[in-house]
Amino acid sequence: MMTSSQIRQKFLRFFEERGHTIIPSASLVPNEADPTVLFTTAGMHPLVPYFLGEKHPGGKRVVSSQKCVRTADISEVGDASHLTFFEMLGNWSFGDYFKKEAIEWSWEFLTDKQWLGLDKNRLAVSVFAGDADAPFDEEAFNLWKRFGVPEKKISKLPKKNNWWGPAGTSGPCGPDTEIFYWTGDPDKIPETFNDDNNLWVEIWNNVFMEYNKTDEGNFEPLKQKNVDTGMGLERIIMILQDKDNVYETDLFQPIVDKVKSQKSKVKIEEKSIRVIADHIKASVFIIADDVEPSNTGRGYVLRRLIRRAVRHGKLLGIGENFLAKVAGSVFEIYKESYPELKQSKEKILDEIKKEEERFTKTLNHGLKEFGKIAKNKIISGRDAFILFSTYGFPVEITQDMAKEKGIDVDIESFDKELKEHQELSKTASVGMFKGGLSSAGARTAKLHTATHLLHAALRKVLGDHVSQKGSNITEERLRFDFSHPEKLTEEQKRELEDLVNEKIKEDLSVICEEMELNEAKNSGAIGIFGSKYGDKVKVYSVGDFSKEICGGPHAKTTGELGRFKIVKEEAASAGVRRIKAILE
Ligand code: ALA
Repeated sequence: MMTSSQIRQKFLRFFEERGHTIIPSASLVPNEADPTVLFTTAGMHPLVPYFLGEKHPGGKRVVSSQKCVRTADISEVGDASHLTFFEMLGNWSFGDYFKKEAIEWSWEFLTDKQWLGLDKNRLAVSVFAGDADAPFDEEAFNLWKRFGVPEKKISKLPKKNNWWGPAGTSGPCGPDTEIFYWTGDPDKIPETFNDDNNLWVEIWNNVFMEYNKTDEGNFEPLKQKNVDTGMGLERIIMILQDKDNVYETDLFQPIVDKVKSQKSKVKIEEKSIRVIADHIKASVFIIADDVEPSNTGRGYVLRRLIRRAVRHGKLLGIGENFLAKVAGSVFEIYKESYPELKQSKEKILDEIKKEEERFTKTLNHGLKEFGKIAKNKIISGRDAFILFSTYGFPVEITQDMAKEKGIDVDIESFDKELKEHQELSKTASVGMFKGGLSSAGARTAKLHTATHLLHAALRKVLGDHVSQKGSNITEERLRFDFSHPEKLTEEQKRELEDLVNEKIKEDLSVICEEMELNEAKNSGAIGIFGSKYGDKVKVYSVGDFSKEICGGPHAKTTGELGRFKIVKEEAASAGVRRIKAILE
């Protein structure tokens, strides 16, 4: 049986042999300069500039296995194949090869014995049928025929099925051709492909990005013709390892086993076990990309995942403090493909443990409260809000529980309550709460700039061993984690404050330049290089005091900042210190 690591490697190698550069997965957190999505949701997402003509340092052909998070179908997690975290195998052409090679290579990779060797008879495909915006994809249709797919198994489908992108409302897009695998009885393979039969599972999508959708909704030809493909790694592994669902593959089995081993008699509720396995894996990867649980944006998505897992643990009768143990099993699975996970293992397990503890404190009281409230036919917005604000129940958990009892939650009035509350307390906007991006207000911009000054000051005062381990900015304060072995002295803190305030007084200009990552590195810019290889980056300079890679936004000059003050200095984890500071 092929292991998941072997399959991932095979894919990368197949395309490397055909002139592609292997690029590492980008972070799950998109570049801050890109406000269209909260998390990376497809392999193509970090590559958008290259479809539009920018040059990729890896050349015109690249291949990767990209970490993705999608939470739109979170309520379906627990069935055979829906996941919140998954990997997408993809090969790309930036204005290089087009339909012929893309189709030929996917067919070869899937069916050739040397590669995956899938049974050709169990495959079917779909192509774009054509409409007023773009014609029928006759070329793709003919290519499939040429490779021996019978006409009956080539479906012509509309935009709803066979068109991909753009990620936002405008951007690169085009017709696609999808490949399906018959997961039902091999002796009963239908003669025709039927989109409604879910035994036909989509395994691979080839998108021919040749249009740009404008803000007005028109489709204009792009300067170059691109290929964007995506194959769900977990699904293809499920097929190759001959399992009915993704949880029995080697990408999940150790996590599922760990959940089951938490108690001698875990109630076997398959769905709860699967939800915990999926959500904890997603949480591990999200925290590894420097997100922490919070009530806004990405942090809120993470909070929901962990708290949902806690509740499902409760449904299984597993006691407290089990999630970090379950999370431990994720590292073993990914140690070859994502060796960097290990570096932040301690921090990841600690965050999960702390979040479980926070929620466990109020969970029982909250469940009791829910029991009372759930006697009504509908849960009012006010009650859902109390569950949220007093007992820490993300509203989606209240909705899950209500659904199990066959009752509804008045979500509109919940949103209203939330909004009123937030206006009162002047915290984050509702948009943010529902998953928008972090506030780009003037205060945040100033704190961003102050963070750069602090980072540069730390390296001057403490030494060059200081490097950024994390950063989080709200409208009120900055928080900066950095490597340093010991507690800062009062004198060091004063020195840092004085140096930053001196730079503020000098009223230095903040200048932004865009460049390739390598160029940025060579110019001496500091910042997190990590997995952002291949991207164009923004480099912000503050006078000649600081030069750092960052998405922004920033103040225009340091004079705007006000007075910088450190309010707290503490340990964040082993060898990592944390400073919280404000601008007065
Ligand atoms: N971008 C395409 C997808 O996500 C390949 O399906």
